[in-house]
Amino acid sequence: MRQQLSAGNWKMNGTTAQLDELRALVAAHKAPGCAVLICPPATLIAAAADVARGSSIAIGAQDCHAAASGAHTGDLSAPMLVDAGATHVILGHSERRADHGETDAGIRAKTEAAVTAGLVPIVCVGETLAQREAGETLKVITTQLNGSLPDAAPAGLVVAYEPVWAIGTGRVATTDQIAQVHDAMRAALTERFGVDVADATSLLYGGSVKPDNAAEIFATSNVDGALVGGASLRAADFSPIVTALSDASQP
Ligand code: 13P
Repeated sequence: MRQQLSAGNWKMNGTTAQLDELRALVAAHKAPGCAVLICPPATLIAAAADVARGSSIAIGAQDCHAAASGAHTGDLSAPMLVDAGATHVILGHSERRADHGETDAGIRAKTEAAVTAGLVPIVCVGETLAQREAGETLKVITTQLNGSLPDAAPAGLVVAYEPVWAIGTGRVATTDQIAQVHDAMRAALTERFGVDVADATSLLYGGSVKPDNAAEIFATSNVDGALVGGASLRAADFSPIVTALSDASQP
C-alpha cells in the first residue's frame, strides 16, 4: 500500500546552524510510524544527508533541471542531487510556478528527469484564491495534474495538493475542501493510470499545516501525509506533526 509521508520543505531558509533542527528530529524519531523527509535548500543537502545517514529520515531537494548536465548556469540536475544524498525532489511548487514561470510541460520534463535519476518526485498542484472563488478549483487541479505527470506513472509517486491561498498564510483549507480535491485527484489518477498506480500514489496536503491541525487533516479522506513549510523549520513544531501522522497510520 502507499506510503504515509511527513515531508518538510525548508524553502530558502537555513544555513549550517539549521542542521541542529535535523539532528533533533533524527534523535526524536528513531522508528517513526510513517516516512519522514526533509527538503533543505540545495546548499545543505550533502551535509543534511550526512546528519541523517543511518536514520529513518530521508533528504530531498526542492527542484531540479530537466537535463542531466549541460550549459545551464546556476541549475542543478537530478543526478547531482542523487550524488549529494537526495532521495526525493519537490517539483512544480507554486512558488516556482509563480517566481520562475514554471509550466506543466516543464514540470513534466523535470519529473521524467527525476525518475530517470532514481529520485521520488513530489509533484505539487494548487489553485489560487481567484481560481477557487471562480469555482475552477477541480478543473485547475486536474489540468495541472495531467500536464505535470509523465505518461508512464512513476512507482511510488507523490502528489502534493497545496492551495496557494493557504501557503504561509495561516489560513488552512477545511477538511471538506481538502477531501474534495484529494478524492478528485485519486479519481483522476485512477482514470489515467489505473487503480494500482492510483492506490500506490501518496497524496499530501500542504498549506499552513501545524501541530494543532495535523491530526484532523490526517484523518481526512485520501490524505496520506503533509508537505509542511514554516512548521518544518523547528523540530519542536515538526515532531508533533510526524507523531500525528504515525498515530493516524496505525491500523
Ligand atoms: P506553509 O506550511 O508554510 O504554509 O508552506 C506550505 C508549503 O508551501 C510547503 O511546500
